[in-house]
Amino acid sequence: MIIEDFMPQVGDGSIRQKLESCLRGDPKNLPCVFFYDHRGSELYEEITKLEEYYPPKIEIPLLRSTARKLKEELKDCDLVELGSGDCSKISVILDEVPKEIRQTIVYYPVDVSKNAIEKSACNLQQKYPEMDIHGITANFLEHIEKIPGRRKRFFCFFGSTIGNLPESKAIEFMADLGRVMNHNDRLLLGMDMLKDIRVIEKAYNDSQGVTAEFNKNILRVTNSHLGTDFDPEDFEHVAFFNRESSRIEMHLKAKRDLEIVSPVLNEKIILKKGEMIHTENSHKYTENDIRKMAQAAGLSVENIFTDDKKWFSLVEMVKR
Ligand code: AVI
Repeated sequence: MIIEDFMPQVGDGSIRQKLESCLRGDPKNLPCVFFYDHRGSELYEEITKLEEYYPPKIEIPLLRSTARKLKEELKDCDLVELGSGDCSKISVILDEVPKEIRQTIVYYPVDVSKNAIEKSACNLQQKYPEMDIHGITANFLEHIEKIPGRRKRFFCFFGSTIGNLPESKAIEFMADLGRVMNHNDRLLLGMDMLKDIRVIEKAYNDSQGVTAEFNKNILRVTNSHLGTDFDPEDFEHVAFFNRESSRIEMHLKAKRDLEIVSPVLNEKIILKKGEMIHTENSHKYTENDIRKMAQAAGLSVENIFTDDKKWFSLVEMVKR
């Protein structure tokens, strides 16, 4: 098992600059990649187990049924999972693949969290000793060129993480991937579908407050990078569906006037009571959106695997 690390570390000047400019923006925002330190990844795992958070409950059986249909395509290929997290999703796929095929696969989990990669790659290696694993710690949106390309590749991007990108960035990412893909490579993309808005809003406002904790954790991560003194308790978790943009928006709303200081900042960051920091978007798609995005990215949709209620889709795409 090999693990390579391409992530910038705490104290990296470009991260500080990025965070500062986001916090001085109007409206203020923080990039959602900063949710995922060790604690953030743990909280996200907790979210995935919540009753109200429906996506994994649908995606997991869908992964199982789709794997049964696609298992032959995995033979002799590099299986690259972007945003692999705890590797539980790929396990669902691998469990459906015969051992003779598994031993021909090299699995490349790619994630921003080094901790997640180390832990999950170890667990997976124990579960499937016959399979080679090569972990990569990287932000795949910025390091697409780090993805290996010697054999036929099967790219996976589950959990509808693509929905956390603005539409233009999502298409750009798909197009970048399309550029590095060869004609026999495949992409299997998890996409959360537009549905009853009450179901969506409940999923991001869970009764146990885990999503609220997850949202506030971004302030702790910001403090660790920028030396700021944000107190998460000074903020309220806000999540609502924006119909026009077909997305859930998460924000942190200041409960009082705040002046945030840091030894590395020349000026304070001022927040008025009620002011919001925009922390995340999570887009929900229609089949038409999916086809349009693929078209714009130079990919073509081979198959859309979905559940009975059409709440979640696994979209198989190839280079056009
Ligand atoms: C990682 N991503 C797909 C999650 C989502 O649903 O957009 C992150 C999340 N945010 C709040 N809950 C879960």
